Amino acid sequence: MEIKNSTILITGGGSGIGKETAKQFIEKGAKVIITGRDEAKLNAVAKELGAIPLLFNISDFSSIEPMAAKVISLLGGRIDVLVNNAGIGVFPTLGEITLEDLQSVYATNVFGLTLLTQEIVKTFKAQNYGNIINLGSSAALKGFARGSVYAASKFAVRGLTQSWQAELRPFNIRVSLVNPSEVATAFAATDRKEREEESNKLGALEIAHSIVSVVEMRDKGFVTELNVWATNPF
Ligand SMILES: NC(=O)c1ccc[n+]([C@@H]2O[C@H](COP(=O)([O-])OP(=O)(O)OC[C@H]3O[C@@H](n4cnc5c(N)ncnc54)[C@H](OP(=O)(O)O)[C@@H]3O)[C@@H](O)[C@H]2O)c1
Repeated sequence: MEIKNSTILITGGGSGIGKETAKQFIEKGAKVIITGRDEAKLNAVAKELGAIPLLFNISDFSSIEPMAAKVISLLGGRIDVLVNNAGIGVFPTLGEITLEDLQSVYATNVFGLTLLTQEIVKTFKAQNYGNIINLGSSAALKGFARGSVYAASKFAVRGLTQSWQAELRPFNIRVSLVNPSEVATAFAATDRKEREEESNKLGALEIAHSIVSVVEMRDKGFVTELNVWATNPF
């Protein structure tokens, strides 16, 4: 897809991978909406990047339909790319898991992601064109100790991705899953502070680069799934 003059929605664009991806798309000439739950942070980042901020909690299910309509209107009636990036994690062992852990992580990573995509896909189908990038994780491929809640939610995102690929190809809608291993971001940090770059960990830049590359591919092909690891984690 030609990124210049394209229109893009990135959920959770106020920090980490979403922020860096918005930056890369904007530098290539796209019009980008970023969403998040922290108004001050979102507005500051939008101003810094030249993005359009939209305060929108994806786990507030009743707001999804009106927010999706607002997105289409803010983008001038057309949307080319949805990046389903907003995500959270909690990491209790089996025995410590609460219903609240399961409900909160699934509400954002699975239910909100699905309901928002369902709304945006109405426009993609009407256009006979669209791109969906789902943020999975290495935890979408393999469970790990303390991964019950998070890995299960990301396995669900992988299942959604494969189901949508089967349903949406006839509408020229490309659906891709990007699976980063550990990235030094504010992810799962209770203070929500960005982490410093670490030599043996991925940075948001590698994942933004992966997402932009997947979208930039000529429309007659698409990447079904992309796994991204740190080169030397030791
Ligand atoms: N960092 C890693 O190691 C890693 C590895 C693999 C996959 N991932 C995935 O990559 C994605 C981005 O994570 P990140 O590392 O960039 O962490 P991050 O900086 O914490 O980004 C997560 C973003 O999601 C937003 N968000 C969370 N819950 C939301 C909700 N209910 N409604 C709307 N926005 C919400 C957050 O914004 P606010 O807090 O401002 O609302 C934040 O901008 C996630 O899906 C994560 O699972 C991360």
